[in-house]
Amino acid sequence: MTDAHLMKKAASRRGFLAGGLAAGASAAVATAARADDPAITSVQPWAQQLGDGVDARPYGYPSEFEKHVVRKNVPWLTADPVSSVNFTPLHELDGIITPNGLCFERHHSGVAELDPGQYRLMINGLVDRPLVFTLEDLKRFPRVNHIYFLECAANSGMEWRGAQLNGCQFTHGMIHNVMYTGVKLGDILAEAGVKSSGKWLLPEGADASAMTRSVPMEKALGDCLIAFKMNGEALRPEQGYPVRLVVPGWEGNMWVKWLRRIEVGDQPWHHREETSKYTDLLPNGKARRFTWEMDVKSVITNPSPQAPISHGPGPAVLTGVAWSGRGTVPRVDVTIDGGKNWVPSRIDGPSLSKSMHRFYYEFNWTGEPLLLQSRAHCSTGTVQPTKDELREVRGENSIYHNNGIQTWFVNEKGVAENVEIS
Ligand code: MTE
Ligand code: CO
Repeated sequence: MTDAHLMKKAASRRGFLAGGLAAGASAAVATAARADDPAITSVQPWAQQLGDGVDARPYGYPSEFEKHVVRKNVPWLTADPVSSVNFTPLHELDGIITPNGLCFERHHSGVAELDPGQYRLMINGLVDRPLVFTLEDLKRFPRVNHIYFLECAANSGMEWRGAQLNGCQFTHGMIHNVMYTGVKLGDILAEAGVKSSGKWLLPEGADASAMTRSVPMEKALGDCLIAFKMNGEALRPEQGYPVRLVVPGWEGNMWVKWLRRIEVGDQPWHHREETSKYTDLLPNGKARRFTWEMDVKSVITNPSPQAPISHGPGPAVLTGVAWSGRGTVPRVDVTIDGGKNWVPSRIDGPSLSKSMHRFYYEFNWTGEPLLLQSRAHCSTGTVQPTKDELREVRGENSIYHNNGIQTWFVNEKGVAENVEIS
């Protein structure tokens, strides 16, 4: 029996009561002011001496007390770090923007370190004028700013057959959400002049993996960007410095990093990343291919296995993130009793198409065990399925495109674990 099955059993064996849990905080959260609290009455070290000057941190970094907030990999998934993945610490973040240094990394041949002076982007194939752009050339086109999530198709892939990894960083952390500055791919293509027979693009990376994917022209001329900034500063090397392709709402694998060439063709190329990889094997032996859009999905980030409830009964805040590759997320329902009662959460912050949304649910924790779930609704009308619903259609052989509902079990001590309930 696998660990996942054990956990599944454990969850269904545990009877739990969630009656009496109601939304809305009631008890006080702060303690009464005391005259003998040294944290208040004594002069703390940071007030006894001068702090660092303005020359100490030419490029800022987080407080030393935040050292644990880092990307992490899963050792058994990482046979070789140059062809692996690390995960965004979603449980440590709030709002909707992922800080640049915490964006998960996925690369097939390590991080290419490109010299921007030597950077070239070539457009060739079915075009009137094959062209080469330098980085400066690209920056002379009209610039646009957009916030988009990037989710690897394999996000939550290890959870297809049952609850496995203990923490939303590992189950859902192959996602980041940043503001990109770049130019429209359509403008660059127009400069080269796409021939009427040109229906597909093959973007190619400059790294040793020379990543390629077939992108339909309609998407390319729609909302694709050639980006050189993330959250206002240059792309990080891990994210494709100096230039990456942005394919909003579509699987991360198409967002070619270190973009060096775009070939225009009249049909898809059926390369490795769209045949042997990034396809979903169905129970009937056929494979789903070109599954581009990332479907509506959400996860509760707090409480979660890496972020237990650290206080006793009383007012508690549940929060999480939701996104859809097809539109906005106008609604996220949450349940704290394993689906007996669903209530709408409160979405706060910008609600942008193909971007992460932040939701909150404030409730009064009685101290009883909880089974937490969230269920996101896309503006196009689709709703996040349960994992069982997903398996019914897709079977258990998939790795990619798992947007099933995640469950966290929280015990009386506030400790959380990854479980499944059916
Ligand atoms: N582009 C190149 N050139 N090389 C790569 O290995 N990995 C792809 C994609 N683009 C990859 C690439 C995959 S599988 C994903 S999920 C995203 O980049 C990851 O982007 P990130 O590293 O910014 O998170
Ligand atoms: Co990927």
